[in-house]
Amino acid sequence: MEKLIVYGGNRLFGDIDISGAKNAAVAIIPAALMASDGTCIIDNIPDIEDVHCLERIIESLGCKIKVNTNSLTIDSSNITNLDACTEDVRRMRASYYFIGALLGRFKEARVELPGGCPIGVRPIDQHIKGFEALGATVKIEHGAVNVKADRLIGTNIFFDVVSVGATINVMLAATLAEGVTTLENAAREPHIVDVANFLNSMGANVKGAGTDIIRITGVEKLCGCNYSVIPDQIEAGTFMIAAAATGGEVTIKNVIPKHLESISAKLIEMGAEVIEQDDSVTVKSTGKLKSVNIKTAPYPGFPTDVQQPMSTLLCAAEGRSIVNESIWESRFKHVDELKKMGANVKVEGRTAIIDGAEKLTGAIVKATDLRAGAAMVIAGLIAEGKTEIHSLDHIDRGYPNIEVKFQRLGAKIHRESAEE
Ligand code: EPU
Repeated sequence: MEKLIVYGGNRLFGDIDISGAKNAAVAIIPAALMASDGTCIIDNIPDIEDVHCLERIIESLGCKIKVNTNSLTIDSSNITNLDACTEDVRRMRASYYFIGALLGRFKEARVELPGGCPIGVRPIDQHIKGFEALGATVKIEHGAVNVKADRLIGTNIFFDVVSVGATINVMLAATLAEGVTTLENAAREPHIVDVANFLNSMGANVKGAGTDIIRITGVEKLCGCNYSVIPDQIEAGTFMIAAAATGGEVTIKNVIPKHLESISAKLIEMGAEVIEQDDSVTVKSTGKLKSVNIKTAPYPGFPTDVQQPMSTLLCAAEGRSIVNESIWESRFKHVDELKKMGANVKVEGRTAIIDGAEKLTGAIVKATDLRAGAAMVIAGLIAEGKTEIHSLDHIDRGYPNIEVKFQRLGAKIHRESAEE
């Protein structure tokens, strides 16, 4: 067990490179097993625990993989096992993409129900609705999803809720279905577009990703390809907020500024300066920021995954901010930790009322989930004195080398054994 030690009060300065997008990579890796011919070479893979879990799962299914720093080579020509039921599958959320990928290619799969961050009820009814509409039988037995189809036939599917996972999962299966599938009320996140581009590089015919109607014309088979994952919108947002919170000046490189617009807009509204370049953004701030209201929403709205780091920033802004979390009902678990540091926050259902505190003070806290962990790191960076952050397994699932990246910007942060 490890913990992060943060000494607050240092302004962050310099440049930081953003890694490949976690939520794109965790869909692209399962999607790669749909290639029956050739190998997939995928670059810009983030070095995070969720990716390592997926590497172990695809190996357990019979894929051959080679890891070379941030590049992953996957040969899935000889898959021998259609049963993904391991501890790794149960631990993470994105393991549910093996259902769509295996169903598409083999018309059959057994995948244990996924885990992931404890941020609310996480049903998969929309995934199941999509698989059934394509002609599969879906049964949940002994904690696993069993899917089987004689044939998958393209059809029209209207999702009842906008779901990233359901959109990607059904898109995977539909690429190898017969005929045309139309997904309506589809999610529009940048990683949906990235997965569609990856599938098209493998020979699929997916059109409209990035809008709420995606049209997939089934093909007979998919082949290996070379691909590079897009930059991580959420990691970038986290560093933008950290720069604003500490009153520094940081250039966040290897990003797609368009994907960050909802975050940039809020930082500007608070009084920070955000300068967009071709593939980087610079955030400058005096550290004296105004309160704002936030409502999370599917892309292009303000991302729920940035809500927790943002609420730390609001704890140190002047005045009252109202944060409404519209996607997950339990995404305020970090608030109790922030309160240990002197934050003035009241949570009422899905709303947090934040009154900016004069200062935060270091304390012993924990990462209650992945983005809560990032929120605590930012809190530690602006707090007076020493902050100890425990339960780093959550942070390591989604942020590559978080302390090393912050050290490069001048933060006083290091990792040590929690037993010390
Ligand atoms: N929903 C349903 N039925 C479904 C699927 C979803 O009702 O079948 C509901 C959910 O309960 C939620 C909403 O729809 O209220 C949106 O859920 P979505 O399916 O979009 O979430 P997800 O696919 O499980 C992904 C990311 C999350 C991110 C959400 C929203 C991955 C592996 N996870 O989750 O990322 O918060 O989309 O953008 O891609 C994170 O990275 O920290 C994280 C939690």
